[in-house]
Amino acid sequence: MSIRRTLIEISQVVLQALCALAVLTLVYSGGSAQADSMSGKWLSPAPSAARKNPIAPTQESIAAGQKIYSKTCTMCHGNSGDADGPAVIELNIHPAKLSDPQLATESDGALFWKITTGKKPMPAFGKRISETDRWHLVNYIRTLPKREAAISR
Ligand code: HEC
Repeated sequence: MSIRRTLIEISQVVLQALCALAVLTLVYSGGSAQADSMSGKWLSPAPSAARKNPIAPTQESIAAGQKIYSKTCTMCHGNSGDADGPAVIELNIHPAKLSDPQLATESDGALFWKITTGKKPMPAFGKRISETDRWHLVNYIRTLPKREAAISR
């Protein structure tokens, strides 16, 4: 009996040591990439963020964007941008809340780049949605935080 207990104790110590080693390896191998991903925010490269939106946010553009959004983006980002689409529970993912007023701190170029490039689990739409339509999408998602503010007032 006591031999068995000793064996269990030894295996626990070995396990703990292995865990500590794994954590240390992670910390040291991560380097600067680790530091970047730890800041948590998804940032676009500066030249992309500086790109100007060639399409004015007219009613037509916003309506065009809304059409694509409800077909392609609501499953994750939700109808009103609250990140509550059906895929959220199903896939246990955490899409950005596009209704958050902080969206206003991002340039059109940055939003365009994110839609184009994607970031797991969000797909890259660069090849699936035309450049013009991606700018329409930017114009449309800009209206999501405003809707939210209008409702809560
Ligand atoms: C499969 C789910 C999924 C779909 C579909 C999807 N997204 Fe996303 N999206 C995400 C996730 C998850 C993030 C957060 C990524 C991160 O920061 O790690 C995100 C982030 C974003 C961001 C960045 C917001 C910010 O403030 O940084 C924008 C903009 C965006 N999505 C727009 C869209 C648009 C427009 C569509 C439709 C063409 C779309 N997404 C479709 C999951 C999705």
